[in-house]
Amino acid sequence: LKVEGGESWFTEEEEGLVSKSWNLMKKDAGEWGLKFFLKIFEIAPSAQKMFSFLRESNVALEQNAKLKAHAKSVFVMTCEAAVELRRSGEVVIRESSLKKLGGVHLKYGVVDEHFEVTKYALLETIKEAVGEMWTPEMKRAWSVAYHHLVAAIKTHMK
Ligand code: HEM
Repeated sequence: LKVEGGESWFTEEEEGLVSKSWNLMKKDAGEWGLKFFLKIFEIAPSAQKMFSFLRESNVALEQNAKLKAHAKSVFVMTCEAAVELRRSGEVVIRESSLKKLGGVHLKYGVVDEHFEVTKYALLETIKEAVGEMWTPEMKRAWSVAYHHLVAAIKTHMK
């Protein structure tokens, strides 16, 4: 999946903005991950039902380790996407992982709107986490990386 305009489109500075903000958040990844998904469920309550580990669990949402792990995956994989975009101009994920990722999201009924809401919640969470460090440039860098990661996943959701 090539980035429009070639390699220079996602710059070293943009990669830096993504990694800088994630480095700030990652020591409290569980807490931010929870906030992130609570925002998603606030906007799209029905999304909760898709997660088997929420349906099948008696523990409170706040205590659910698998929910926090999924949230962290979204953060970490978006960061990795940023690194790859800067390095090669495309999101590089091992084909077998991508196939699995696409298959799982298709199977559980994740649609475009879920990815959209999740993007919004992701940006809001980072904004809250980094405070005064938040800039339009940081927002754009995360948006672009997330967009390309999702596009890669979607190629395996048909
Ligand atoms: C499962 C990553 C977006 C819902 C997973 C898994 C990963 C992952 C790594 C585990 C796959 C496995 O079983 O091996 C991501 C990434 C995303 C993303 C990187 C965005 C860039 C979303 C969105 C939703 C969603 C937007 C819905 C709101 C789910 C569900 C599962 C899942 C329902 C299966 C959970 C279960 O086992 O019950 N995702 N995800 N994901 N994801 Fe995502």
